[in-house]
Amino acid sequence: MIDDAARVRRPAWVRTRFGLSLSALLTVLVLGGLCGLGGDAPDVSVGVGIPAHREVSAGLARTPPMGWNSWNLRGAAVSAVDIRAAADALVVTGMRGAGYRYVTVDDGWMLPTRDEHGTLIADPGRFPGGIAALARYVHARGLRLGIYESPGRTTCQGRPGSYGHEAHDAVTFAAWGVDYLKYDACSYPGLRPAGTSARAWLVAGFTRMRNALDATGRPIVYSINPSSSGDPAGERAWSWASSVANLWRVTNDHAPCWATVLPMDYYPGVCTSDSFDPASAWASEGGPGHWNDLDMLAVGLTPSAVNPDVENLASLATGRVSNQLDDTEARTELSVWSMFASALIAGNDLTTMSPATRTILTNRAVLAIDQDPLGAPASRRGGDSWDGLSVWTRPLAGGDTAVLVVNRGDTRRAADLPGSPLALRANPAGYEIADLWTGRLTRTAGTVPTLSVDLAPHEAALVRLTPVGRTAG
Ligand code: GAL
Repeated sequence: MIDDAARVRRPAWVRTRFGLSLSALLTVLVLGGLCGLGGDAPDVSVGVGIPAHREVSAGLARTPPMGWNSWNLRGAAVSAVDIRAAADALVVTGMRGAGYRYVTVDDGWMLPTRDEHGTLIADPGRFPGGIAALARYVHARGLRLGIYESPGRTTCQGRPGSYGHEAHDAVTFAAWGVDYLKYDACSYPGLRPAGTSARAWLVAGFTRMRNALDATGRPIVYSINPSSSGDPAGERAWSWASSVANLWRVTNDHAPCWATVLPMDYYPGVCTSDSFDPASAWASEGGPGHWNDLDMLAVGLTPSAVNPDVENLASLATGRVSNQLDDTEARTELSVWSMFASALIAGNDLTTMSPATRTILTNRAVLAIDQDPLGAPASRRGGDSWDGLSVWTRPLAGGDTAVLVVNRGDTRRAADLPGSPLALRANPAGYEIADLWTGRLTRTAGTVPTLSVDLAPHEAALVRLTPVGRTAG
């Protein structure tokens, strides 16, 4: 077990005891100083062993992070070739321009052991230039690099975890030029000492790395996944993570399927529509700097290009093989993730995606809902009264409102949704209604809009309502 008490208030230089590379530390301090990142706020101990410097990460992720992650496509076989290809594709497909900035190397990037100084080593066969060179490549394209680790002794794929090495690993990541860390519980819950609650143990483990990242002086977006902890009590990250992480997973691993139909109580939330009902528990917890994360998008994942682990998960949930979202379901998925202001992390093969997939992923009107600067949460409307339709509304910056209606069922559904139960306020001049998928613009006749929808199975309508005659500001 980590000797937490002994580490509290330990001065920074003593952390060399854990094998820090002093040159790496100096690099980070100098760079941090040059960039004005260090600040002079006092350390804020949270009792987890590494002094916090929250000012370093205070301004991060004001809107949900967008990007691409290697797991759904390459699994643990990820290589620098994959990351460079994804980075190039983000540029040429227009995805970077649409806001996708973070390229993350998921699990599997390391050798099974650390070097003699305790430093993590990228697999030289798959990352011959190392991670720093990869970061330079990614940065040169106006993108940011993400990397993966775990608070346990091993990652989910059995690579060395950061347990007991948090400060060292954070400095290593910062020196390499990493901008984003996905930190995945994996083996960590198994280390919990008797008498410590599951939740306290998760909070401590994830906070330790937050503090370690901030102590480097480099702003690093922090994405955590307690859902891999196997402990439902501790997993309700939305109830504790907003002061720890910039985003936290609210579901288990997501796979390309519409709905779970087989008993999966041991692994809930695999398919796209599975998160609609549980969302009421966490939808209100996101906001600027701290977001719910519905996991990587399954948009564009195809049976011929998907990590077999991810396809197996979809097969377990559906009882079928060769699962994928069709384009209607893919539009719905992006609508739902955007309505909930989730991180938008694609996982498909960007180099071969269809024009339809590219059009979906780069729909700027939809992405603007996700990235709305107000960051206000969505609220569910209508309960079950619109049988088969899930309806959510969300206030947007400047007085607009987003409305999402999803037909979860397997038959076509048409409905007129009156504005009052949608909590839309009267506006004397009416509303302009923009359908964000068709681009169609209409005006309401009355002062409170009625929304008419006619939806194919699994289709979503995502509309933006603008009060007519509203004065700016
Ligand atoms: C899971 C996580 C996945 C992926 C995988 C790697 O726990 O949810 O997104 O990171 O670990 O082993």
